[in-house]
Amino acid sequence: RNPNPWLGPATLALLAGCNPAQSVLHPAGEDAAEIARLFWVMAVGAVVIWAVVFGAAVFAIVSRRKPTTERGADLVVLFGGVVFPTVTLGALLAYGLTLLPDWGPGEPPDLRVHVEAEQYWWRVRIEGPDGAMIETANEVVLPAGAEVDFHLTSPDVIHSFWIPPLGGKMDTIPGRENVLRLRPTTPGLYRGICAEFCGASHAFMAFEARVVPPEDFTAYLAAQAEPASGDASAFVAAGCGGCHTVRGVVELGATGPDLTHFASRATIAGILDNTSEILREWIAHPVAFKPDARMPSYDMLTDDQMDAILAFLGGLK
Ligand code: CUA
Repeated sequence: RNPNPWLGPATLALLAGCNPAQSVLHPAGEDAAEIARLFWVMAVGAVVIWAVVFGAAVFAIVSRRKPTTERGADLVVLFGGVVFPTVTLGALLAYGLTLLPDWGPGEPPDLRVHVEAEQYWWRVRIEGPDGAMIETANEVVLPAGAEVDFHLTSPDVIHSFWIPPLGGKMDTIPGRENVLRLRPTTPGLYRGICAEFCGASHAFMAFEARVVPPEDFTAYLAAQAEPASGDASAFVAAGCGGCHTVRGVVELGATGPDLTHFASRATIAGILDNTSEILREWIAHPVAFKPDARMPSYDMLTDDQMDAILAFLGGLK
């Protein structure tokens, strides 16, 4: 028995707050670094103003009983309570204004990534150098140092695209396209999330953002551009191909995530470790992990059918 029912949730909350993969205070991109700097400057400014105003108030109360120091107390309150906060807040405002983004037409980006946020996953299309689109899902791989334009939209409800360590965030709105520019600087593994309540599985609408050295990105694009291969007969017989494209093997439906290089992804659906045991559970009961998910439960598959599907998906490197 858990001796303290709050211990588990409290520890989790603490760990979540400290997870640098999803922290705005561990920036790995230009925009996030500016936001983190702004946060610290504002926080220090707020603490200094609080200390001076509080000090002035205490001084005024303490010296109220001594009429001889009244004039001194007035000056302290005037300076500490009015002049000092005005000057300090003015300076903080001026600093904040210098960080406003430049809204004018900028340089063209180094890379364009098209993101469609859907209940409750992310369709990601990367524009290759030859203009060809490479589609993947629930992961975004980016070259370090590149200016990246994310073209954001949604086919259903409003979501919000946010990779906290890189900067952002921006809403994805049905019927329009928002463009968010980010420049990731530090290679690493980060966590992207949906930042707008969008339904039962909003909290599970996450994805992996991987920033890699530019040469690794070129290799990634080349590998992703290759079509898949493998024995898809069980996958097709179960009807999976009606929603999932596996380029080069089954290209019937595309309402669900593209699975062409599924085995190369770190996660299943953006939130689960990509192992065959977990994938077995996911395919049988997706809504157990993501309530209200569109994918039906495939708990009617026999072990042989399931094994064949897992073998096929596991081979999609
Ligand atoms: Cu999608 Cu919240």
